[in-house]
Amino acid sequence: MVNAQKFIEESVAEIRKAAGDGHVVMALSGGVDSSVCAALAARAIGDRLIPIYVDTGLMRKGESARIRQLFGSINLKTVDASAEFFAALEGIIDPEEKRKAIGERFIRIFEKEAVATGAEYLLQGTIYPDRIESEGGIKSHHNVGGMPLDIKFKGVIEPLQDLYKDEVRVVAGALGLPPEIQHRMPFPGPGLAVRVLGEVTPEKVGIIREANHIVEDELIEIYSPWQCFAALIGLGTGVKGDVRLHGWIVAVRAVNSRDGMTADPIRLPYETLERISSRITSEIPGVARVVYDITGKPPATIEYE
Ligand code: XMP
Repeated sequence: MVNAQKFIEESVAEIRKAAGDGHVVMALSGGVDSSVCAALAARAIGDRLIPIYVDTGLMRKGESARIRQLFGSINLKTVDASAEFFAALEGIIDPEEKRKAIGERFIRIFEKEAVATGAEYLLQGTIYPDRIESEGGIKSHHNVGGMPLDIKFKGVIEPLQDLYKDEVRVVAGALGLPPEIQHRMPFPGPGLAVRVLGEVTPEKVGIIREANHIVEDELIEIYSPWQCFAALIGLGTGVKGDVRLHGWIVAVRAVNSRDGMTADPIRLPYETLERISSRITSEIPGVARVVYDITGKPPATIEYE
């Protein structure tokens, strides 16, 4: 386990050295990794850090408002890029292609912001498992394997690249970040796009955003899962109000894990599963079926793509 104080001192010194007297842009998503990165960099280089929140249109319900509320006091720039992301995802079915398209959009936005703000460096919250999975060819995390090669920054700074998630949380505590951030459930960089199998459209993302909200609402407070969410996995036949319906199938996933490298499905009570199923099918038009995923990692990954 990481020695948080020593880690903070060393990373602050490293960021200061890497950035020289330059400006640094970073994507601040409000998750624990990017928030820890921002806090370290703010200590190291003060207002030469330019945090940017990119609204990809693939975020969870209420996420953009929450970020503005949490980080309203720092100089946070918001970029609304949802139309750009949906256009980049049009027609893409292959999961790796999706991740690459999203990674590429992020980089292009940051290159543009770097020009606009005069920043020469990019700060990223890549953690150790992201690198392992990308390098091992398991999946390209948007901020590792998804990065296009003609990147135009002088350098990329990744202070958390040797840490596991639980270590990042310990560092977050030592930095004095609010518990809401310290214990925030992981949310993948490509967002809800990896929770929609097949082509990603605004309509499908709208459905899965609502389903995710219901799953989080029913599970987080009571079960404190390491991660829980919903994914749109296909279409099937159903019947609603005496009418046959070609409706969406939503998979619910709730897992416990130490570091995301392995995971165990949570044995949720049947009543809880029934309530989730009944809320999703009654509150979201077009959903005909809800299933609970009981696969561990391995052989499944936590996310669906
Ligand atoms: P998997 O699906 O590989 O996920 O078992 C392990 C953990 O990583 C998260 N995840 C990502 N996080 N960018 C991220 O920042 C990504 O591209 C990405 N893909 C998966 C996932 O939510 C889980 O917590």
